[in-house]
Amino acid sequence: MEIFTKLRGMRDILPGEVGKWQKIEKIFIEMSELFGYREIRIPILESKDLFVRGIGSSTDIVMKEMYEFKDKKGREVALRPEGTASIVRAYIENQIYNKEKISRFYYYGPMFRYDRPQKGRYRQFYQFGVEVLGGKSPYFDSEIIFLLNETLKKLEIFDITFLINSLGCKNCKVLYVSNLKNQLIKVSDYLCNDCKVRVEKNPLRVFDCKNENCKSLLKNIPSIMNYLCKNCKVHFDILVNFLDKNTINYKVDNCLVRGLDYYTKTVFEVISERENIAIAGGGRYDDLVNDMGGPYIPAVGFAVGIDRVVPLVEYKDKEKERTIYLIFLGEKAKAKGIEIIKKLINMKINFETDYEDRKLSEYLRIVDKNKNKWCIILGENEIEKGVIILRNMEKGIQEEVKEDEIVEKIKEKLNVKIS
Ligand code: HAM
Repeated sequence: MEIFTKLRGMRDILPGEVGKWQKIEKIFIEMSELFGYREIRIPILESKDLFVRGIGSSTDIVMKEMYEFKDKKGREVALRPEGTASIVRAYIENQIYNKEKISRFYYYGPMFRYDRPQKGRYRQFYQFGVEVLGGKSPYFDSEIIFLLNETLKKLEIFDITFLINSLGCKNCKVLYVSNLKNQLIKVSDYLCNDCKVRVEKNPLRVFDCKNENCKSLLKNIPSIMNYLCKNCKVHFDILVNFLDKNTINYKVDNCLVRGLDYYTKTVFEVISERENIAIAGGGRYDDLVNDMGGPYIPAVGFAVGIDRVVPLVEYKDKEKERTIYLIFLGEKAKAKGIEIIKKLINMKINFETDYEDRKLSEYLRIVDKNKNKWCIILGENEIEKGVIILRNMEKGIQEEVKEDEIVEKIKEKLNVKIS
């Protein structure tokens, strides 16, 4: 019979690994809530056009990587490749700008990109993101970078660098892009075929090219910094000053353009030095709300790739150690087991058990293999005597505990604090 396997680029996160994911998710949520961000949940499936308009029709994400299909009514839909476009859609659709001046959102969930899978790159991956809508001050950019840096520190991820750049506002960007195009046309014969198309369609994308020849040609292109208007320059300087004062490890990288077209002014990426991979990316998108049919509302945000954070975090799964294994020997013990279970759940103590007919020796082997620190044994003898056996697996010692003393004894032995 055919055995089903997961699709390429997808993965199972098995119970032993989930604890680490939950720890990371919890820290991102706690930190974001401390900064006043509130959770927003957006659909996984949206109209394809939302992403074409939001992310840009000539980006790799839209041109090559979207999971898109027609639904039963023939509407073109797509699995979300990122969260920002959907959040802007929800913000406009629910007219949130009429309800509050500044909106701070966080979101978490799976994103989908049909990219070539490799280390740290999956077709279904998880992003935790934050977006602030309504503020144009560079201190919002500083806030989200600070929040991200503090959260990574809490996760004990220290070997990171923030790469930052400014793409300027609409005006400086247009000026720069037209100059860039003119410069690139001059060297067009030496560019790769993909870049030849990029020069025509979206010259900034040339900076994403991995081709060494194209990269070396870009070294002679004037930096975007020379094209920033006064406002954009001040914006960037305030941010850099903030990063300096708060000892955030950063490098200005004038080739950083990011793979999504909505950015204006600040863009940044966080590189893990250990894995040499971007674990997060973000920036300002002051025109997106307006471009998508809403009022002019400036905004800034980032998303972290949780799949890429997981290998950087140390985690010891203490779950099994904290879980008492219950061994019920015989039918009477199984029936009586629920009385012990009720006591444990009242004390908020995790337990696991198995209702098969096994010998005590086999059970003890299971508990050993499971790495449970404690187990309770209940057989016919114990029922007759009105006791249970509480066994410390690490020390290999056990004692009889009277039924009406179970709660007290477990509290004492397992050092349980009842809230
Ligand atoms: P992005 O750079 O496309 O930005 O993705 C953010 C992060 O998601 C990346 O730095 C990476 O860690 C992770 N990521 C992206 N693609 C994959 C993949 N195929 N497999 C594993 N991880 C991946 C955005 O998505 C923007 N929406 C960020 C943003 C929010 N900008 C403003 N607000």
